[in-house]
Parts: sequence; structure tokens; C-alpha cells
Amino acid sequence: MDAPPHVLILPFPAQGHVKPMLTLAELLCHAGLHVTFINTDHNHHNLRRSSSAPRPHRLRFASIPGVHRPNITDLFFSVMDNFKPKFRDLVVSMGGPPPTCIIADGIMAVGAVEVGEERGIPVICFRTQSACSAWTYLHLTKLIEDGEIPFSGETMDLPITSIPGLENLFRRRDLPSICRIGDLQNPIFQFFVTQTSAMTRASALILHTFQNLEAPIIAKLGAIFPTIYPIGPLHALLKAQITDHPAPSDSGSLIPQDRSCLTWLDSQPSRSVVYVSFGSLVKLTRGQFLEFLYGLVNGGKPFLWVVRSDLVLEEDRVDETPEELMVATRERGCLVDWAPQEEVLAHWAVGGFLTHSGWNSTVESILAGVPMICWPQIADQQVNSRCASELWRIGVDMKDTCDRSTVEKMVRDLMEDKREEIMKSTAEISRMARDSVEKGGSSHSALEKLIEDIKSMKF
Ligand code: UDX
Repeated sequence: MDAPPHVLILPFPAQGHVKPMLTLAELLCHAGLHVTFINTDHNHHNLRRSSSAPRPHRLRFASIPGVHRPNITDLFFSVMDNFKPKFRDLVVSMGGPPPTCIIADGIMAVGAVEVGEERGIPVICFRTQSACSAWTYLHLTKLIEDGEIPFSGETMDLPITSIPGLENLFRRRDLPSICRIGDLQNPIFQFFVTQTSAMTRASALILHTFQNLEAPIIAKLGAIFPTIYPIGPLHALLKAQITDHPAPSDSGSLIPQDRSCLTWLDSQPSRSVVYVSFGSLVKLTRGQFLEFLYGLVNGGKPFLWVVRSDLVLEEDRVDETPEELMVATRERGCLVDWAPQEEVLAHWAVGGFLTHSGWNSTVESILAGVPMICWPQIADQQVNSRCASELWRIGVDMKDTCDRSTVEKMVRDLMEDKREEIMKSTAEISRMARDSVEKGGSSHSALEKLIEDIKSMKF
């Protein structure tokens, strides 16, 4: 009998990438495939510490040492400098028959595709973000040629014309944050240009989206990638498929979740709470932190805010919160280090999500039918917030502002004044997301096709 297919899964070593790729790993194992999930030592330690989830027996972990860096910019440099030879060594050291294929994060494509080509192993890239975002990154060079980047503060509101399908949607301020870097030779900008270009050499593309959300742009990506698997929302796909032992929601968390906030939510009125989280990377100045706090308190709704221990910039961590603000926060708010976010969004007391528009958070909010206030900062977040507000109409975009009166107005708009209108599209898109993961739904079918294609390795 032939050995079962063995897939190497290679995430970029940060929370927003590890989580969806680990969920995919679990789904593949559930379908009978063997998976080796390649972590950094640091993330592996954090995953074991933070997650109580039992792992499928077909899932193994392997580590690449020495890649981890404490801040995200240094992590990009480390991936650029260290990753490829270490990944090659790991593949060689595994011995036995070569893996059936590598599923590599779209921003690890350079090393993965080159090692795959050297050793004759097919590579599928998983861009863990939206189709609109993947399509935008693929146009970085075109944006430069057409003079749309770099841009200055005064031209931020000019419309973007060089990304087909998104012409009437994006302004310059809606492009990924790297487009705000004035120097196009900047190594981080170049990192994304080269990774995206290498991604096009992969055999196929996986996207963490669903067909009905982004059909026109998925179709355009089809001109570059002959095979595309839109398989989001992955956490819902996992729940729909593994009903006998549902995965706990901390399954891919690198930080321990504080579940006490669920009890606090139980005591709040239905759909009254604004959940606030800026994901795992975004940082605030002390001034921004206080503006958000004032805006939330003045917005008049109870709020649950994830205040990570490193959320406020280190140099700004002085305790000078005014007494009256502290009192109002204690009356109306609940602050936690890190929450069980999927469960929080699914809780009946939550009515809105003030988010940084990270793609996982966006997908989780869509699935839960919770409308968003978007405050994007880095990476694809500017793209996501624009799509959420103007394309899908499931939120409001407070891009590039965060004074207390704007925060208060956004809370009132989302929770009261504009709620009826926004909830119509939010409920409709949430239904489409839930349908997509059911048997016969588009994401369910795309996952089945991916599994069959891996088993037969025909691309
Ligand atoms: C990063 C980038 O910021 C984001 O733009 C990109 O799309 C993915 O990589 P991150 O900042 O961590 O991700 O945000 P996001 O993509 O939203 O992922 C955060 C994950 O952490 C979510 O799956 C969320 O459920 C989880 N989370 C967040 C928790 O489990 N608890 C929390 O308190 C907050």
C-alpha cells in the first residue's frame, strides 16, 4: 500500500499566520493526510503553553531554530536572511521519501519555492489574507510604474487607477501600509515585492476567503494562478467537519486566553457590548490609548477591550489615566490581556467590534455577524477596512483618525444611528460565510478539491 500523502506546512511565524495555517493542518489530518507543521522554537513553546487543544495524531511539529525576533520588522529581516538555508536543512534532515507537497505562507514563498524547485517538491502558496489584498500586493510594481506610489500626505485621497477591479474603490490611503514607505528600495517594501513575485511560481494558491465574498477578484487572480482554493472561514470549516470533538477556540493561540470575560459578557444586555481588539501586533501611543478610552466611555455602551501587555508603546507606559476615566472604565468596561476572541464574537451580548482589521479578525467578525468599526494600522489592514466599509458595507472605517469625538461618533453610528442599514448587509454576508462551509458550500468543496489534488498531486 502507498504511504499516505505527507504535507509540510510552513507559516510566517506570527500569530495572524500561524492560526489559519494550523487550522488547515488540522483539517488535512482529519482527511487522512499526514502533516508536519513547521514552527519556530519560540512559537512552538508559546503554542504548547497557550493552547489546551488535543492535536490529531497525524500532525507532527518541526522547528526551525534561530528565526524568531521580538519585533515584527526584525522578524522580516530574519526571514530574509536566515530562513531558506535552515528550511533546506530541515527538509534534507527529515530523511525518508520526500514530502508530497509544501504548503507555504505566501510571504515565505521565496525560500519555499526555491527549495521545492531544487528538490522536486510541488509548492502551494497559502496567502492567509483576502483576495483583494493578494491582488493588491500583486500590483505593487504596477503601482510604481503608474506613479501611484510613493505618495505624500496631501495626495492620500486620490483614487487608485492601476488595480483592475478595484479602481472605483481604493484611494491611496487604502493601499497596504508598506505603500506609505517613501523609499521604494526599503528592504521591507522589497521583501513584499519579491515574496509576491515568487508566489506566482507556486502550483496553486489557497486563500482564506470564500467565493461569494470576493468572486470578481478571485476570478481575476485566476489569470495568474490556474488553481485557486478559497477555503475560509477556516475555523468554521473545522467546526463543521469535526463535530465529534470540537476544537477549542484557543487551538492556534500563541498567547494564553483569559476566559473570565465570558462571565462578564453573560451579565450584559443583548447586543450591547462593543468588543475592542487590535490583534497581536498593533501598538498604541499613550495618547491614542486615552483617546480610545474616552471615546468608548463617552459612546455610552459597555465595552470589552483586549489590552495586551505590550499594546501601549514601552516608552509611553506611564500610569497617568485620569481618575474620572478610571471610574467610568470600571463602571462600563472590562479589560483583559487576551480573550477567547472567536467565542467573544459569537456571544449574544456583543453588538459591535472595534478592530484593527487584521484579516483573521475580519473573517471571524463576518462569520459571527458582528459589524465593525475599523481602525487599520499595518500590513493588509487598510485594504480590509476599505472593503469592510465601502464594498461589503459591514462596518465603518475610521482610518487615520482616532480622536475621542470620532471614536464616540463611530460607536453611536454602529450601535444606533446607522445600525439597521449596516446590519442588513452584515447578516447577509454572515449567512453566506456559514453556507460556504456546509457540505456542498464553496469553501467546503474547495477544501475537498485541495485534498483530492494533494492525494493525486495533479495541478
Ligand atoms: C497580522 C496582521 O496584523 C493582519 O493584518 C494580517 O491580516 C494577519 O497578520 P494580527 O494583528 O494578529 O495579524 O491580527 P488578526 O489577523 O486579526 O489575527 C489575530 C488572531 O488572534 C485572530 O484569529 C483572533 O481570534 C486571535 N485573538 C485576538 C485572540 O485569540 N484573542 C485576542 O484577544 C485577540
